[in-house]
Amino acid sequence: MKPMVLTGDRPTGPLHLGHYFGTLANRVRLQDVHPMYVLVADYQVITDRDLPGEIQSNITQLLLDYLAVGLDPAKVTIFQHSAIPELNQLLLPFLSLVSVAELGRNPTVKDEIAHSSQQAVSGLMFTYPVHQAADILFCKGTLVPVGKDQLPHVEVTRLVARRFNERYAEVFPLPEAMMGEQPLLKGLDGDKMSKSRGNAITLSATEDETAALIRKARTDSDRLITFDPENRPEVANLLTLAGLCLKRSPQDVADEIGDGGAASLKRLVTEAVNEFLRPIRKRRQEHTADDVRMVLREGNVRARERAVRTLDEVRAAMGF
Ligand code: TRP
Repeated sequence: MKPMVLTGDRPTGPLHLGHYFGTLANRVRLQDVHPMYVLVADYQVITDRDLPGEIQSNITQLLLDYLAVGLDPAKVTIFQHSAIPELNQLLLPFLSLVSVAELGRNPTVKDEIAHSSQQAVSGLMFTYPVHQAADILFCKGTLVPVGKDQLPHVEVTRLVARRFNERYAEVFPLPEAMMGEQPLLKGLDGDKMSKSRGNAITLSATEDETAALIRKARTDSDRLITFDPENRPEVANLLTLAGLCLKRSPQDVADEIGDGGAASLKRLVTEAVNEFLRPIRKRRQEHTADDVRMVLREGNVRARERAVRTLDEVRAAMGF
């Protein structure tokens, strides 16, 4: 079975260092090894909020982030949900393959409902994982690089693929999730790194914004800097961040700082992050909104051709 990589992001805000070390670096590596699709999951934005918000601007910024980190449109097909009607058409037969009870059991959906600010939970909230199965299966994806929260969706995808193959004909490979190995990078306050919590260093932040964020990061008053994730999680997280940027171990970074205290730690982290992001930020400046439109236009055409072929196969297998 030839590997086919598919992954994607909801365009809800700028990407940050957590995304970079969690998945973007991995994608940049994979693009040289396997054919790959990267999806801008724009329709999925309206699962946990009523309105898509600044959707066009968020899509442009997401694409600039992709280009900045080195995703190469000559190697990777970058496309949008909303440009591929065949994904919606695959949703219908796929929905017939899963039960309402199975949809309701999805832990990630449950978690999103618990954290949602919406008045009412929409039908899309329960069914979007099946739409996500179409995202993965339209190109016969076999490898899905994602974070832990997406594992239930990959399970739904495997269920859909398996049942379709059993009920109709062998059309789909069963995809596997591929998880990053990095230690989970936390936000600067020790919580999950997230733009909406104001604790994330975005790829597009300026050097001054980065310095200001790190200055505010939570630490402790022990002058001797040690890497002790158990007892000093905030200090350990800053050391992890510096280590990732410098390609050194966090212990090694801690030893270098010694008894320099939180101020030295923050100075070192700021320099390490800004140094690391400099080429990424520079590349971001080199691309325009027009470049982005062109990349998406071409990606959408390529993805749509693939989706049309799969939908034809699906219809034929079902006897329509
Ligand atoms: N659900 C993913 C997220 O919230 C985005 C996504 C949509 C995705 N379709 C996908 C990820 C298919 C991997 C494969 O980030």
